[in-house]
Amino acid sequence: MRKPIIAGNWKMFKTLDESVAFVKELAPQLAPFSSVERVVCPTYIALAAVADVLKDTEIGVGAQSLHWEEQGAYTSQISPTMLVGLAQYVIIGHSECRAYLNETDETVNKKVKAALAHGLKPIIAVGESLAQNEAGETETFVSGQVRAALDGIDATSMENIVMAYEPIWAIGTGKNASGEIANTIISKIRATLADLYGKDVADSVRIQYGGSVKPGNMAEYMSQPDIDGALVGGASLKVDDFTKLIEIAAAEKGA
Ligand code: 13P
Repeated sequence: MRKPIIAGNWKMFKTLDESVAFVKELAPQLAPFSSVERVVCPTYIALAAVADVLKDTEIGVGAQSLHWEEQGAYTSQISPTMLVGLAQYVIIGHSECRAYLNETDETVNKKVKAALAHGLKPIIAVGESLAQNEAGETETFVSGQVRAALDGIDATSMENIVMAYEPIWAIGTGKNASGEIANTIISKIRATLADLYGKDVADSVRIQYGGSVKPGNMAEYMSQPDIDGALVGGASLKVDDFTKLIEIAAAEKGA
């Protein structure tokens, strides 16, 4: 049985003080829902302080990206060694990084390897554009992104990887994919994993949906058999909304 995982991707929101105040308020609200893995992904600058507030809780911390080198002349970048001890998870391949920060399938793969080598768990984001979606290319494109991200990754590492399907056209737009459509694409991602690693491994990997997830549509996703959680942007920035998402996940999927 796959434990559901809900991660809040804060993107470039919240100052240091706001981040600390937020998790202080959030932590007790999320405490009862231990059947769901709960993760927050603040900005780099708030990681240490948020990790400190959450250190005696079950709420995990994730970074929003990383560089693949351990150190070096890479102005503005954060290395895996810098994240160790602060974060357990790291989002890799988010479409905003692919669109604005030159993230490619190749850098995604390097980052996945670097994260794993340092004991960080990648949340690998994949997803098609509106044009690709309308051209009927979703399955082929997404499957290609999955294969490229996992190139050279062995089956035993898959227990430390979470996949996230985030159709670009659904991110921050309020135009979410229906639960049924999201489940169909996620089942294709699982089929790609089965092709790479066999059915047992594929069945054990958690795959999230992301894109305009809100309390009002969460049950639609969580009731789908292949969707194991959500990667949430906007709704993760409000204590009440994020708590509600976790509550719904616990009700639909919790053991
Ligand atoms: P929204 O939930 O704001 O659409 O963002 C989704 C996302 O990009 C999470 O990584």
